[in-house]
Parts: sequence; structure tokens; C-alpha cells
Amino acid sequence: MILQTIDYVEGSVVMIDQTALPMEERMIRLSRADGVAGAIRSMRVRGAPAIGIAAAFGMLLELENLLRESDQGGTGFFFDRKTGMSGSRGVAIDPEEAAGKLNQAAELLAATRPTAVNLFRAIERMKRVARENPGDPARLCSETGAEAFRIHDEELERERRIGAFGAALLRSGMSVLTHCNAGGLATAGYGTALAVIYSARGLGMDIRVYADETRPLLQGGRLTAWELLKNGVDVTVLCDGAAASLISTGKIGAAIVGADRIAANGDTANKIGTLGVAVLCARYGVPFYVAAPLSTFDPDAPSGESIPIEHRSEEELIYFSGIRTIPEGAGIYNPAFDVTPAELITAFITEKGVIYPPYGGKTGRLSGAGS
Ligand code: MRU
Repeated sequence: MILQTIDYVEGSVVMIDQTALPMEERMIRLSRADGVAGAIRSMRVRGAPAIGIAAAFGMLLELENLLRESDQGGTGFFFDRKTGMSGSRGVAIDPEEAAGKLNQAAELLAATRPTAVNLFRAIERMKRVARENPGDPARLCSETGAEAFRIHDEELERERRIGAFGAALLRSGMSVLTHCNAGGLATAGYGTALAVIYSARGLGMDIRVYADETRPLLQGGRLTAWELLKNGVDVTVLCDGAAASLISTGKIGAAIVGADRIAANGDTANKIGTLGVAVLCARYGVPFYVAAPLSTFDPDAPSGESIPIEHRSEEELIYFSGIRTIPEGAGIYNPAFDVTPAELITAFITEKGVIYPPYGGKTGRLSGAGS
């Protein structure tokens, strides 16, 4: 099942509010780029591919708003994915003003979360299309609109391929451990790590998933369990500290996680706690796979050391469900991601196939293809 994680409908970005899950399935509509930036920062939308798509739609919003505000008494502009631009054409606005608005939105969106490279790649793609279409603002809007939907649709296609390549690594009866949420909620709707599970099940395999709860924001317990159950997948949630004991039993056939940024040498940033799972897998001889589209590979980061790691607010750790659980005066360490060295990764599952070590050249070369 493809989740309706994020879409652009009649001049609004529509997304499922991931902070409300699993208790409430609430859709939110945002009509300005700063609202989209706020949603990314507060993790109403999260996951590397999903925040890239959100940023692209957020930039489109600003352009449409400018056109609409300048279209005195017109029928209005709503970018429509089927027909391209609809509504009035020929509205007189300064192309430089349009480019300025777009750049402003880009800056705002780029300042939200530093680690997932998909965000910056999507923003760059939108800016490139804008540069290539100076002059007529309506055309600029229709071209950037088409690009935003291409970013969304290409991700979805990649996810299907990742699922198919990854499924070939599993066998029926296997239990798979995952960390955080790398499913439809984190992407264009199908997932990366979870796409592998969905595809394997689609082939008739019986796969059971163990989902790390993923402290502090519980993407595993709240989101992965929610979407797996929605898809009829057998899922068991464990607290992060139980991963070692589970893996040591020999029950886990493979661990599959997503990624936020993969350096040219294969070092991989993903949700905090991923490194621990990778070390455990190495210790107990369990294959550790990273499922990610090429849009997550960053050729400009030679190794994990050059990946910026987001540190989030102390409150995320101090309060559990609104209740203070850590005494005043204690220091707080709250990085949102860690880096798993390439040597601990059995293989990358990408839309171009499964990549095995040595990674160096391969991941660096492929990353250029996945903007
Ligand atoms: O902080 P989050 O929830 O945005 O972190 C998400 C992850 O770490 C995912 O595993 C990653 O983005 C891959 S999503 C396909």
C-alpha cells in the first residue's frame, strides 16, 4: 500500500502529521514555505526523502502565492500535476521578485535540518529549474511545479525498485530488525527499508519485523509499527536497549535500515542508535543492510566525518510524553543521527541494485546519478 504521506493539492502542501501518530491520523494543509519549514523542523514530516519532497513543494508554494497575490481579480493559480499550470496567465510580476521569493524560501527550508542530503538536493533541483526559466513567471511556476512532482514521482519509483532488489536478499520465515522509520511515512509513500519488507511479502514471503522503538521520538514504536500493521505485517516493538539481547538469540536473519546521507566511501548517517545495531550485527554475524535511493548518496562528503550531524533540543530527552523524567541539573546529549562506518555495512540496497564492498569508487560514482 502506498501511503499518502505528502502531496500538493490546489495550492497547499498536504501531509500526514507524523507527530500525532499513532493515536490520530490527522492531515495538515500548509500554504506558505515557512509553515513547511516549521513542519520539517518539528518533524511533522520527517525521513530523508520525505523532507526533500516537502521542501520542493514548499518552494512551489511561495511562487504560486506570489502569482496569486499579483493576479488582481483573476481566477487564481493552482499548479495542477496533470495539466501543468492552471488559472490565469500573463500576470505582471517582476521575474527578479519571483527569483528572490524562491531563494528566500530555499534558504528557510535549507536551515531546517542539516543531515539528510535529500533536502539540499531537492532544493538545488528546484533552484536549477528556476535559473533555467527566467522571464515569464507563469512559465517559471509551471516548470518548477513539474520539477517538484518529478522529485516526488522519481522517489516513488526508486522505492519500488529498492523493494524489489532488497526482497531478493530475504527468504520466507525470516525475522528482520529495523531501526527508526524508513517506510512510506519517511518517503514518497512506499519506503526504503520497509519497501524491502513490503516487496518480499508481495512475493508471498512470510517476514516478521522487529522494530526498535527508537528513542527519543519513537519513530520505530509510533510510526514503523503503525504502518506495518496497516499493511498487515507482523511487527514486534522492542526498546532500543533490547536489540543486543534479541540479536544474540540468533532469531534475526537480517537488519535493514534507511539512511539520511551516505558518504562517498560508504559511511552512513542514519537515526541515532543505528551504529549500535550495526556493531551488534557484526558481532553476531547478522547481515546489516542499508536501503537507500541514490538521492541519499552524497559525492561531496568523502567520509562520515564530513556529514553534519543534527543535535536536537534538550526537551526531547528531558520530557517523555510531556512528563519530566530527567532531573534539573543533568546534562543532555541529544544527537539525532550517528554514522555507521562502511566496514560494518554488508551491502547497500539501491534502485540500481545491491552494492557490495569495497564501496569507495562505486558509491562515489553512483551518487552523482541520484539527484
Ligand atoms: O529524524 P528522522 O525521523 O527524520 O530520521 C529518519 C531516519 O533516520 C530514517 O531512517 C532515514 O531518513 C531514512 S528514511 C527512508
